[in-house]
Amino acid sequence: MMSSYQATCQARVDTALSSLFSAPAPELARLYEAMRYSVMNGGKRVRPLLVYAACEALGAPAEHADGAACAVELIHAYSLVHDDLPAMDDDDLRRGQPTTHKAFDEACAILAGDGLQSLAFTALLDEKLSPQGEAVRLQMAMALAQAAGPAGMVGGQAIDLGSVGKKLDQDALELMHRHKTGALIEASVQLGALASGRATVQQRQALKTYAQAIGLAFQVQDDILDVESDTQTLGKRQGADIARDKPTYPALLGMGMAKAYALQLRDQALEALLPFDEAAEPLRELARYIVERRS
Ligand code: IPE
Ligand code: IPE
Ligand code: MG
Ligand code: MG
Ligand code: MG
Repeated sequence: MMSSYQATCQARVDTALSSLFSAPAPELARLYEAMRYSVMNGGKRVRPLLVYAACEALGAPAEHADGAACAVELIHAYSLVHDDLPAMDDDDLRRGQPTTHKAFDEACAILAGDGLQSLAFTALLDEKLSPQGEAVRLQMAMALAQAAGPAGMVGGQAIDLGSVGKKLDQDALELMHRHKTGALIEASVQLGALASGRATVQQRQALKTYAQAIGLAFQVQDDILDVESDTQTLGKRQGADIARDKPTYPALLGMGMAKAYALQLRDQALEALLPFDEAAEPLRELARYIVERRS
C-alpha cells in the first residue's frame, strides 16, 4: 500500500536516523544499542513522511526537512518504548519484535526513551540537518516541545492511563486521542511547513485543519486495527486494547460508525487541501493511506 514517494522518504529518514546512534564511549554501548533497536526496526515513518510532504507541498526541497523528520520519529519512538513498559500498556511485541524492555531490561528501556527524547531536540537544532535560520529552528523546537509534552502526547498518555476501565463519552475520548496521537501528527505537518520557510498564514491554517483531521483519524484507525487486524500484520499484539479494557472508538461507537468516522475525517482533511496544487499530492495520499492501512 506504500507508494514510491513513501518508500523514498522512508529511506531518506532512515539514513539520517541511523547516523545518530554511535556510542561515544564503550560504557555507553548498551544504551545506544537500545536506542538504535527502538528506532531502526521498520516503523512506518508516517510522521517523518508528513514532515517531508508538508515541506514539499509548499514548494521547498525535502533536504530542508531532515532534522524535523528525524525529530518527530525520535519522539514517537520514545513514546512507544515508554508506552509498552509494564507500568503502562505492558506489551511484549512492537514492530514485530520484542519490545525494548523485553530485549534489554526495564531500566534500560526507560533510559533509552529518555535519551531518544533528547536526541530529537539535538537533531532538530543541528544546523546540518535543519539548515534554516535560528529563528525558524527555535520555532520548530517550541512546536515540538509543546506537542510532545504535558499539553500534548504526555498529557494524552496520562488521560489514557487514567481512563482504563472507564466509559468515556465521545468528547472525552476525542480529547484523549487528540493529545496522545494528534498533537505529534499536527506538529509533524507544522514542522514541515516551518522547514519550507515559505508558508503563508492561510496555508498554515489550512495545513492545521488537515493535520487535526488526520491526527484523529490515525488513532481511530489504530483502535480499529486493534480489533480487526492480526498480530502478524500489526507487528504488535492484536486485541491488546480489549484485554486491558481501554476506551476506544470501536468500543464507544461500534465498528461500523468508527469506520465511517475515520472516512469522514479523511474527507475533512482532503477538503482542507483544496487550495493547494499537485505539490500537495503526497499529503493527500497520506490522508488516504492513514485510514486504509492494515498495520
Ligand atoms: C502507533 O503508531 C502508536 C500510535 C500513536 C497509534 P504507528 O502506527 O505510527 O507505529 P509505527 O511507528 O509504524 O510502529
Ligand atoms: C499510543 O497509543 C500513543 C502513544 C503516544 C505511544 P496506543 O497505546 O494505542 O499505541 P499502540 O497501539 O500500543 O501502538
Ligand atoms: Mg497506550
Ligand atoms: Mg500501547
Ligand atoms: Mg493502539
